[in-house]
Amino acid sequence: MFVKNVWYVAGNAVECTHTPLARTFLNEKVVLFRTASGTAVALEDRCCHRFAPLSLGDVEDRGIRCRYHGMVFDQGGQCVEIPGQDQIPPGTCVKSFPLVERHNLLWIWMGDPALANPDDIVDVHWNGATDWPTASGYIHYKANYQLIADNLLDFTHLTFVHRTTLANNAFPNARPEITSFERGIKLNRVIRDCDPSPLHGMAGKFNCKVDFWNRQVWWLPSIFENWAGSVPTGDGEPHEREGGLHLRHFSLLTPETEQTTHYFWLQPCQFPHEDAEMIERVGQGIATAFAEDRWIIEAQQEVINRSPEAKMRAMRNDAALGRVRFMIERLLEQEAQGARTIPITQVA
Ligand code: FES
Ligand SMILES: [Fe+2]
Repeated sequence: MFVKNVWYVAGNAVECTHTPLARTFLNEKVVLFRTASGTAVALEDRCCHRFAPLSLGDVEDRGIRCRYHGMVFDQGGQCVEIPGQDQIPPGTCVKSFPLVERHNLLWIWMGDPALANPDDIVDVHWNGATDWPTASGYIHYKANYQLIADNLLDFTHLTFVHRTTLANNAFPNARPEITSFERGIKLNRVIRDCDPSPLHGMAGKFNCKVDFWNRQVWWLPSIFENWAGSVPTGDGEPHEREGGLHLRHFSLLTPETEQTTHYFWLQPCQFPHEDAEMIERVGQGIATAFAEDRWIIEAQQEVINRSPEAKMRAMRNDAALGRVRFMIERLLEQEAQGARTIPITQVA
């Protein structure tokens, strides 16, 4: 079960070309392509004639031509040509999905098209901005997206899973302040006078104690925004001080199937010093850390698959992920009743 009336990332904008790209979102097969005029399009990846995948077809001026018997569908999914037949019967079409190209990403709406409002797309304008050197990546996960969400919402794992990258020994006892808002939750955490994590120490060139912050937003159901940073220990709000390292991270999870997830990540940075090579090193550090997460989460999914009825035990640091799971349940209930899903008016 997935929340459908929401914008998910379908891919990086550069992935969408005149060569059709097959991708599955929320258990539905979709073909992405760019029209001759440059518009990015998402259609159901199933020709309405004999169900050949349209992703095997060719993009032409008027749309995409099925490779089986040559029917052509325009960017709205309407059939505009049937070889050997003059009349196009009414209703000869394939489903099209709202698709918006913004901030170097493609955002797809898998739910009711009448509810799709591009104003609801999460703002990731830092991605590739000139004053924000940006590393980015993609991971194909063999796990349900909620297990990845759980991981991102409980940073106590940093100490144990990310010993060489993100570890900060103060995390298990540094409880974040959690607040709910209509589109998810916000978490704030400040840890003063601590050793920098290996990644922050490297990226900020800190050889001293630091004040660390993270200000996170969980955008329901599956986008994680984490403005994290470190600055040499001092007075005042750490994120407002000069000389800090700023990491504007986004993890954008798009369910593929119940057991697999597309994981897109962005890491726009501002460094307290000039170093053109540093963004590359940060990107490698993040990729290493995320491989560590995948290792434990995919192993966790395998254990769950062996005994799906077993119940997990909640601990104190599960507060944020518990709240998000509760909110997602509510969204699913609201969608099942035909209601628009966001904003949520009542939360735990
Ligand atoms: S299956 Fe596509 S034209 Fe026949
Ligand atoms: Fe992690």
